[in-house]
Amino acid sequence: MVERLLANEAGLQGRSVVSLKDWSPTEIKQVLMTAKWMKSNPKIAEIQYALKGKSVAMIFELPSTRTRVSFQVAIQSLGAAPVILDWQDSQLGRGEPIEDTARVLSRYVEALVVRARSHEMVQTLQKWATIPVFNALTDQAHPFQVLADALTIWEHVGYLSGSKLAYVGDGNNMANSYMIIGAKLGMHVRIACPEKWWPAQGVIAYAQQEAEMTGGSVQVMTDPEQAVFGADAVATDVFVSMGDEDTAEKRSQLNAYQVNSQLMAKAKAQAIFLHCLPAHRGEEVSEDVLEGPQSVVFDEAENRLHVQKSVLYHTLSEF
Ligand code: CP
Ligand code: NVA
Repeated sequence: MVERLLANEAGLQGRSVVSLKDWSPTEIKQVLMTAKWMKSNPKIAEIQYALKGKSVAMIFELPSTRTRVSFQVAIQSLGAAPVILDWQDSQLGRGEPIEDTARVLSRYVEALVVRARSHEMVQTLQKWATIPVFNALTDQAHPFQVLADALTIWEHVGYLSGSKLAYVGDGNNMANSYMIIGAKLGMHVRIACPEKWWPAQGVIAYAQQEAEMTGGSVQVMTDPEQAVFGADAVATDVFVSMGDEDTAEKRSQLNAYQVNSQLMAKAKAQAIFLHCLPAHRGEEVSEDVLEGPQSVVFDEAENRLHVQKSVLYHTLSEF
């Protein structure tokens, strides 16, 4: 396997990441390979100056700790300048159309990182922008998080194709993105959630179709034990996502989907536990699992930085 690729060898220049639907299995693997290489070679001068003279704007409609800091550091570590906009304090907060914002910012910076409530808004931004747009989370997708999760599984489990990933909890943006990346990487993905909160049928069907081409599989079910049985990696996420309605009904149905030590015991003995964070101890995950030896959540958080550096490098570097 190739250890590293030059920026332009991956053929990703100018590409956006709005959903990983737009990326081929080979492209995703190339980004992961470079991320792994960058993680172990952080001080190579060629990488540190790869985006020298460029600027990348960051706009967040919703709160963030990891994504905001890791993108800012990734941009800086490649020699580019982050330009951080406050949504409310920009004209977006006063209703300036996203179509105009996209065209204006495209005249100033080389890429846009955006976290928005609505996936359609990021799609509109991409349609009107003439520069790459990177989705830093929407209601439907969290592509950079699952790239980091894939790198974490690769590091800890040792392989991606053929590995078994169980996600237990709300059928949210993380569940969607796990199904898509898992299918593209030939993984066996099982999602367990109450039927009312399943991911959209269209995303399930898309992922199942992709999995047929890679030898992977995607199954959605209601039984958490069935999903976790024999898994290499077990993941969960908050019961109520940012911008979602927090209902007593949703919480009461999801209570049975907590990842705790009894549930982890159904997975492989050496299985890892993943959570994109922030976590709610005692809700979607028990304290002992989150803090226990199987938990790799801080490696997972760190890997946000490496996958984002890799994507910025391959999409924005001219060399
Ligand atoms: N996991 C993640 O996206 O965290 P933030 O909301 O802190 O960015
Ligand atoms: N599903 C969560 C992820 C947070 C990083 C949310 O959208 O709030």
